Amino acid sequence: MARYDSVLDMIGDTPLVDVSILSPNPAVTLLAKMEGQNPAGSVKDRIALNMVLEAESDGTLTPGRTIIEPSSGNTGIALAMIAQMRGYPIKIVMPENVSIERRQLLEIFGAEIILSPGSEGSNGAIKRAQALADEHPEWAFLYQYANEANPRAHYETTGPEILRDAPEMTHFVAGLGTSGTLMGVGAYLKEHKPEVKILAVEPPVGEHVEGLRNLDEGFIPPVYDKWGGQELLDGKRIVRLRESIQWTRRLAAECGIFAGISSGPW
Ligand SMILES: Cc1ncc(COP(=O)(O)O)c(C=O)c1O
Repeated sequence: MARYDSVLDMIGDTPLVDVSILSPNPAVTLLAKMEGQNPAGSVKDRIALNMVLEAESDGTLTPGRTIIEPSSGNTGIALAMIAQMRGYPIKIVMPENVSIERRQLLEIFGAEIILSPGSEGSNGAIKRAQALADEHPEWAFLYQYANEANPRAHYETTGPEILRDAPEMTHFVAGLGTSGTLMGVGAYLKEHKPEVKILAVEPPVGEHVEGLRNLDEGFIPPVYDKWGGQELLDGKRIVRLRESIQWTRRLAAECGIFAGISSGPW
């Protein structure tokens, strides 16, 4: 058994698991990266840690400064865990209709929750957090949608881990929220194995899959623009909420993997 100085040292280096049993084509090997094994329970641990470390080193985060962030849950939970450990008060703006266990986790990690209208989805939470950050320049607004430390965390860790563990890979598929995962992993793979196809999964316009977005809905994350998302992505697939739920259930039933709804679409 490994021994760590802090749970923060346990972030990343997650395993790949074969879930080919779910593949309609028996010739295709499907591998899932088990990001739920990160200490706060999701891929967002990686970017939360990187955003906090960079903000500390560039002087944005000074001791005791309050952090504010919009999140449909996972980034908020990861940031709250890290913020509490390092002594930063934290406020998370989230749509009022996110699941109750996300709110409970945020509370356990000491975050104050500010609710935005459920009908406005994650765009409403972003707008409200932006307005609050403008009103309170004394707070630190890390803003995962525009923070370079987000895609960079994936460029430096997630991407290299995937190529190391699946050098034979032909496609990388991920849901698109801030686009940090797709941009960071995509850029790394294109540099090191240019033939790999990078595919984004989005819900249809008007359908809500927590954590994911359709870029045609009017908000393009600055991270996507800065990292050349248009050129980096080889394609997109639209997956409906109903399908996401079905596939998440199959993942649990047939592979024993309990994952959130945004893991269903791929
Ligand atoms: C639950 C959940 N899944 C997936 C994603 C998508 O990841 P990314 O933001 O790297 O595009 C997010 C992002 O906000 C999320 O909250």
